[in-house]
Amino acid sequence: TNYEEPYRPHLHFTPESQWMNDPNGMVYYEGEYHLFYQYHPDGKEWGPMHWGHAVSEDMLQWKHLPIALEPDDLGMIFSGSAVVDWHDSSGFFGGGHGLVAMYTSADGDFQQQSIAYSLDKGRSWIKYEGNPVIPNPVIKDFRDPKVLWHEPSKKWIMVLAAGQEVMFYTSSNLIEWTYASRFGEGTGAHGGVWECPDLFELQVRDTDETKWVLQVDIGEGAIAGGSGGQYFLGEFDGEQFVEDPSAEDVLWVDYGKDFYATQSFSDIPAQDGRRIWLAWMSNWQYANQVPTDPWRSAMSLPREVSLKRTVRGNVKLIQQPIREVNDLIMNTLMDETIKLNKESSVICKQPERPFIMNFKLKSEELKKVTFSLFHSLNDQKEALTIEVDRKEVSVNRKEMKHSQFHADFPAETIAPIESEREWVTLQLIVDRGSVEVFVNDGEQTMTNLVLPKQNQPFSIVGSSENNELEVECKGHILKSVWT
Ligand code: FRU
Repeated sequence: TNYEEPYRPHLHFTPESQWMNDPNGMVYYEGEYHLFYQYHPDGKEWGPMHWGHAVSEDMLQWKHLPIALEPDDLGMIFSGSAVVDWHDSSGFFGGGHGLVAMYTSADGDFQQQSIAYSLDKGRSWIKYEGNPVIPNPVIKDFRDPKVLWHEPSKKWIMVLAAGQEVMFYTSSNLIEWTYASRFGEGTGAHGGVWECPDLFELQVRDTDETKWVLQVDIGEGAIAGGSGGQYFLGEFDGEQFVEDPSAEDVLWVDYGKDFYATQSFSDIPAQDGRRIWLAWMSNWQYANQVPTDPWRSAMSLPREVSLKRTVRGNVKLIQQPIREVNDLIMNTLMDETIKLNKESSVICKQPERPFIMNFKLKSEELKKVTFSLFHSLNDQKEALTIEVDRKEVSVNRKEMKHSQFHADFPAETIAPIESEREWVTLQLIVDRGSVEVFVNDGEQTMTNLVLPKQNQPFSIVGSSENNELEVECKGHILKSVWT
């Protein structure tokens, strides 16, 4: 492929061809970030699941590698994770170290946990002969193991989705696992089955305090409809997760329709210190029908995740694009302060290449500002509109003609603006098939696929209900990660 097909992302990871869903096995090892993913090599719809594989040095420019894991007697290879076994706790590495992957063996609804290891930096995998390492305990949805090393208890921890809860297991060797506890009853969103959990500890910015983040996806009933992610904040002692009291019923990870099955990298070195995750950029409502060819689905950009205490006193998850994105900057798109009025005006020509645009507006007295992207001057209706007022930001792809392929795709998604501050900032990262919005430096994010018309010149257009509203615009054009 030349990566020039309609809607083919130039910034986001896609397989060259065929179906992809969740990110799996994300781990950093010996200078490479590994991304495995749910993959159906024989079709553009979900089917017998394999683990596809790619590696990168910057999490943006990926090299495709051969399929890592294929279905076997125990079933398909569903989602899971990978870790570096630094001290050969498993005994697989002859006293050295290497990668161990944990995944779900799925024979229909009969789901069990298995492991595999690699002696050659993930290029080839040996399935453990004693699989499954956790047999099915008569639970229908029992899957998506995420493993981490817990230093205080000197144990491996596995967090696993089980029905509408998560379960924690512990191990000293990645092979024998002991059930420890469960979490989820009576808290969080329960509109569907829980999937793809993740668990890690983060420092609250500018403090010595740390918190544990438990991220859990939900197959239906998420904030924007269909599948999406929620998170819990609390304490974890190696056995049990205890949630902090929260003013909100559900803490949503992202307010768009297309951010699912989030997973963070394991083993990013301590000197780097970042926690970085990415998600599958689709929604189970219509994932199998999104009109792209010869591949289907992309990953979100990798995001750095951190915790911040807000002016209201609560701790909040912050997501920002990884700083490596700046290395892709080719040239400046715009760097000036403009004035918007009721009458729409062109802010700039919209580049064909991926770009970042930062808008900054005074929030005092702010009524409503509208930005339209993919705006063609001869067909005003064909646009993505982003509206901002003092309380919320919305992204609307309803009017885009190619949105009509599925009833759940035309949608307006809304993110609240939480903090009272002098400025509202919006960072838009626009690729050929998606728009990711970071509100107020990542306090809220909204990720949506877009299917714009092809081969059209577009403009970015703005209007404001306040007269002469000043907007600082800073934009950069990015180079393709595939060239
Ligand atoms: C989430 C999910 C996982 C499962 C995988 C199968 O999108 O349903 O729970 O392991 O997809 O492809």
